[in-house]
Amino acid sequence: MEQLRGVLDPEIGQSIVDLNMVRDITISDSNVNVKIALTIAHCPLAKTLQADVENAIRKVQGVSSVNVETTTMSKKELEELRLKLQAATNPSPSPRSGPGVGAGIERLGKRGIRSIIAVISGKGGVGKSFVTSMLASELRRRGYEVGVLDADLTGPSIAKVLGVTGKPVKGPGGGIVPLRTKTGIKVMSINLVLEDPSMPVVWRGPIVNSVIRQLYWDVDWGDLHYLLVDLPPGTSDAPLTVFQSLPLDGVIVVSSPQDLASMIVSKAVNMAKKMNVPILGLVENMSYLKCPRCGERVNLFGEPKGEKLAIGLGLPFLGAVPLDPAIAQLSDQGRIEDYSSPIIAEIADELRTRATRQVEQLTQGLPIAWSVEPSR
Ligand SMILES: Nc1ncnc2c1ncn2[C@@H]1O[C@H](COP(=O)(O)OP(=O)(O)OP(=O)(O)O)[C@@H](O)[C@H]1O
Ligand SMILES: [Mg+2]
Repeated sequence: MEQLRGVLDPEIGQSIVDLNMVRDITISDSNVNVKIALTIAHCPLAKTLQADVENAIRKVQGVSSVNVETTTMSKKELEELRLKLQAATNPSPSPRSGPGVGAGIERLGKRGIRSIIAVISGKGGVGKSFVTSMLASELRRRGYEVGVLDADLTGPSIAKVLGVTGKPVKGPGGGIVPLRTKTGIKVMSINLVLEDPSMPVVWRGPIVNSVIRQLYWDVDWGDLHYLLVDLPPGTSDAPLTVFQSLPLDGVIVVSSPQDLASMIVSKAVNMAKKMNVPILGLVENMSYLKCPRCGERVNLFGEPKGEKLAIGLGLPFLGAVPLDPAIAQLSDQGRIEDYSSPIIAEIADELRTRATRQVEQLTQGLPIAWSVEPSR
């Protein structure tokens, strides 16, 4: 039970023990059986929760096998839980609405989105769009409702790597309905709405500002667990607008070992700090090359420095992604959702935990995504 205290419900973001979801624990010799009561029958996140429970119990010395069964809470239990969570909700204003938020610029609301996370970098080409799309794919694989907003107006690449084409249309509610990838990730990008997607977008700051707000607010994102926002590099108008206008829960910083000086990364980091947006961590991309023939690790750009950089900047290090020709190939083919690797799964899990904690701090556990229904 003590071990399960650290397992959070992926939907609500609180300990499954506190949520009274742990039902039976039977231990015979070194075998453990646990029953978990889910809030929704056929919850799309059940597998994720089961894996988290299993991993937590496996850490106990002497345990050789773990069996996790699931059941569903009764209507009465669910109602009690809902009341408990509502009572715990802190109606005080968000701690992010203090100084640092651009004066006079209204920050848009969150609606049915639980975590809004932007992906930033100091310089271009380090793999922000790849990190955004692979995290979206990994979270989707775990059963979450995920959206990706492409806020890189001049170099939009999200629709391409995720393989979505077509024109989004207005839905019955008046909002634009985002397109869906083959696994169900919702995508919105400016090149899906432009008449000629190959036209260069030459827009001044105020237009960039207004288009990004529209890509967020005029789109009917519905209930989402995660909205990931892909940004252009640096600290130009687009990142600034995203920081000022969108209710971000956090940012992920992407760097590559070619970043000549940590100064470039720290500019982006400082922008997030100035705007009071929590930094969930740093991912080092293209960190090293794993030889496809012999498996030897080749440090093409010298020793990876991501972890050191993260420590120097006081950020959590989320992980190092190697250079892999399959990434470039699948991106070109619009099939990045097919890419998976253990390191990417680890980064997604770390992000999941950090984002959940962040949202919990901000909302005191209000189940914003309560109404998310399984879509598959
Ligand atoms: N780990 C990797 N291994 C191999 N290729 C990669 C890797 N990460 C990214 N790439 C490839 O490198 C190129 C640049 O990546 P990406 O477009 O994600 O960078 P970006 O930071 O979004 O760039 P920009 O600043 O222009 O938006 C792409 O062709 C992508 O497929
Ligand atoms: Mg990009």
